[in-house]
Amino acid sequence: MDTHTGIESPRGIWWKRAHPSERMWVGIAFGWCMVLFAMMPLWHLKGGQNPAGIRHRTDPKAYLQRVQEFIATYQVGEDHGIPVVSPPPGSDVYLLGLSWQWRPVLKLRQGAEYVLHLSSLDVNHGFSLFPINVNFQVVPGYDYGLRVTPTAAGDFRIVCNEFCGIGHHTMVGRVIVTDSTGQEVASTARAVLRGEAGP
Ligand code: CUA
Repeated sequence: MDTHTGIESPRGIWWKRAHPSERMWVGIAFGWCMVLFAMMPLWHLKGGQNPAGIRHRTDPKAYLQRVQEFIATYQVGEDHGIPVVSPPPGSDVYLLGLSWQWRPVLKLRQGAEYVLHLSSLDVNHGFSLFPINVNFQVVPGYDYGLRVTPTAAGDFRIVCNEFCGIGHHTMVGRVIVTDSTGQEVASTARAVLRGEAGP
């Protein structure tokens, strides 16, 4: 029987030079891989859609305490039992996800910069700002701070996009962005969401 070991070269003609068209396509595929590889750091630095947040550990109870202090300091009203909070431009803004609501309702000003803190009291939730495509994970035990500047005035919804239990589909929060003079404007978001689950 003709056996063969792996430590000797195989017999016969087993290797042929790659055809020029094969070499060309391997070259094109490799070149494209390198382009995509370079795009990762490029997008991070230039694209703006991979925000560099400040994430640090926190205790869910301590975070809840911060949110309650934040609400007590800047509350201006109430919306279906959820406090409405209007923090001054430049301040730290605390948003809490819990089963199954977002606290508080945020009232921000167009063109002003804030540091938006996101965390959860219980399980993973997903922050999805509707109808704008902005998505973040909201993780218990981690405070995720993002530098944000609202660029459009309107009435926006925060939709939980991470399955978090029986009430997941009812977990809808609200962000009101006033114009640069502090006035609320007629909303496009409300028209888009009319008839859907919401506060
Ligand atoms: Cu919270 Cu789904």
